[in-house]
Amino acid sequence: MPEFADPSDPALGFQWPLSQAWPCFDRPLRLGVMASGAGSNFEALVRACRQGPLDAELALLVVNNPHCGAQVRARRLDVPWQLHDHRQHGSRAELDGALVRTFGEARVDLVVMAGWMRIVTPVLIEAYPQRLVNIHPSLLPSFRGLDAVGQALAAGVTLSGCSAHLVTAEVDAGPILVQAAVPVLPGDDRRRLTERIQEQEHRILPLAVALAGLRLQQEAA
Ligand code: GAR
Repeated sequence: MPEFADPSDPALGFQWPLSQAWPCFDRPLRLGVMASGAGSNFEALVRACRQGPLDAELALLVVNNPHCGAQVRARRLDVPWQLHDHRQHGSRAELDGALVRTFGEARVDLVVMAGWMRIVTPVLIEAYPQRLVNIHPSLLPSFRGLDAVGQALAAGVTLSGCSAHLVTAEVDAGPILVQAAVPVLPGDDRRRLTERIQEQEHRILPLAVALAGLRLQQEAA
């Protein structure tokens, strides 16, 4: 059995609402993160590793947009990062092949798609079986694909949320690791609802990574 850190230990300096202990691994997991946008989920992962209960380290951030917020955060947080601009690659598979090489060189155990706004191909998925995690701003299986928050608002649902799941060939359809529900409030627009959903994403994504890591460790035992 793996050892467990006590998440209520104030020495961790990280407020975590779960009473459950978090897993410790044989060695800290090496994470690769892929991001296209603002990078708030990327930063939440960095914080969970450095100040919180996630027994992992950020080995590498890959961005596909040269000026995205995620790379600005990586500079500020002193996390190694690389640009793989999709416009420089002939196909999705070619881009994913480059990502697989890059993450291999960085000796990454697990890859997290933290707001990666490109469809990934079997080239990446099969290189990281059970080791590729995605965060999506809806309660899957509802509202897969683009603009999940807009889809939820248009549908008039009163409950929305976010899902962290393992990536399989079908978009936003792999096994769910963790979900959080977020009520849709009167007067919500995309911005307001997205803000509240992202607060929850920042909580569940580190937990999903810990769970994925635990599965890997148990499989390897
Ligand atoms: C997050 O809300 C994430 O769920 C979403 O992009 C946002 C990225 O925010 N991902 C998708 O919609 C993927 N289908 P961030 O760059 O601040 O982490």
